[in-house]
Amino acid sequence: MSTDLTQPFDAAEFRNHAHRAVDLLAEHLERVNRREGPVLPPWTPEQSLQRWPADFGAAPAGDPSAFLAQVIESSNHLHHPRYIGHQCTSPLPMSAMLDFAGAFLNNGSAVYEMGPHSTAMERAVAQWFAGRIGYDAAHSDGFFTHGGSAGNLTALLAARQSGTPYDVWEEGVKDASNLCVMSPDTTHYSVRRSAQVIGLGGRSVIPIATDEKFRMRVGELAKALKNAKSEGKSILAVVASAGSTATGAIDPLDAVADLCAEYGVWFHVDGAHSGAMVVSDKLRPRLKGIERADSTIIDAHKMMLMPALATLVIFKEGRRSFETFSQQANYLFAGADPTETWFDMAQRTLECTKRSLGLQVYGSLKAHGTDYFAAYIERMFEMGEAFGKMVTARPHWELATEPEGNIVCFRYAPPAILDANAFNAKVREAIIKEGSYYIVKTVLRGKTYLRVTIINPRTEMKDLEELLARVEAEAIKG
Ligand SMILES: Cc1ncc(COP(=O)(O)O)c(C=O)c1O
Repeated sequence: MSTDLTQPFDAAEFRNHAHRAVDLLAEHLERVNRREGPVLPPWTPEQSLQRWPADFGAAPAGDPSAFLAQVIESSNHLHHPRYIGHQCTSPLPMSAMLDFAGAFLNNGSAVYEMGPHSTAMERAVAQWFAGRIGYDAAHSDGFFTHGGSAGNLTALLAARQSGTPYDVWEEGVKDASNLCVMSPDTTHYSVRRSAQVIGLGGRSVIPIATDEKFRMRVGELAKALKNAKSEGKSILAVVASAGSTATGAIDPLDAVADLCAEYGVWFHVDGAHSGAMVVSDKLRPRLKGIERADSTIIDAHKMMLMPALATLVIFKEGRRSFETFSQQANYLFAGADPTETWFDMAQRTLECTKRSLGLQVYGSLKAHGTDYFAAYIERMFEMGEAFGKMVTARPHWELATEPEGNIVCFRYAPPAILDANAFNAKVREAIIKEGSYYIVKTVLRGKTYLRVTIINPRTEMKDLEELLARVEAEAIKG
């Protein structure tokens, strides 16, 4: 029996399936908007494996809507207003739709001719963000990578190239023990991992102590720079967070920029979480100094409501971005001056083919307008800060630190509870199991805290108030 290879490309069938898929997702959105259903599915990894065996039939399974309904049921419901766990956003339906269209059209970009619209949109979005950061439009340039980890790696590769007096790309790292990178002790693990990947070794990352608000201590950074210099080390980069993963702390960027200028060191801002503050005129001043960074990353899949993954990597001097990968792939890239072939994005990215990452960001900015995104981040930050006040106003609640945005770490520690670390960990397990919220936990300076990221525009203060009441009820249960 011959298989009809064209049948899956039948336009009428695609239309039917896709309409049904959109209906199922819209019904799901209606349900979670009403706060129905568990926030997370209850299945363990083993149970999930049993639900999804590799029992593929040889013949077509037909209408996929039953399958998709099961997938929706088995998913973490990020659109549920009580999903306040990791920094994974509830994507704008519009951005998810654009992502779907992008996947369908599959104009991934490595070189311009593979993805004309995505290349142009990527550039337009990067330049718009560069302007918001405060970079000089005539010099700055950037692109998207698949995620913040790849973004940090890309920026650190450029810093490594800039900070070594030989062609490190061709010759390899000669004396790793002589090279270092400095970052706060709260930095995301991708910074250390990047240093490991680029041959510096994990030990090359010098952690800089943070203050009571988990922000890099500038005095400690100054000391570390001075010591490194006197030991004859090459300092490849200082990485500052805006904001840090655990608490959302924003390092003193301007003061860090001063030190980097004094020592002639590459300054990189990991703005994966809060870099999107540049979109808001109200919040932008809190990032003063970011415009002096040699490179900045911003995860659009965090505070820009985009589906994962879409990270902007932006360089103050766009030309430097071409130094990241200085090898020549002659069959792909034409021309001697790489800035003339800016449109062949893979010259500057880890990835060869990329998804058309600019599409959902460009299309969403157009569809919803930039005021929407400014209002969104302002609202999320206001709610985080208001939640911090709500926590401290209730007896026996503690904050790890007053929140600087929409990430809040807090714990319940009434005197009757002897082991507050164990209690807070236990109550989180109970809450997740019952499906009423998704929250995470973190250990900071020896204490276990509950941690929320308020990232869904439908989350309300009453959701947060009821969370505190839920934890208190657990303490009464004992
Ligand atoms: C500060 C910071 N940097 C980098 C990353 C890594 O980003 P991604 O998960 O997109 O690779 C994260 C992730 O949470 C982060 O919080």
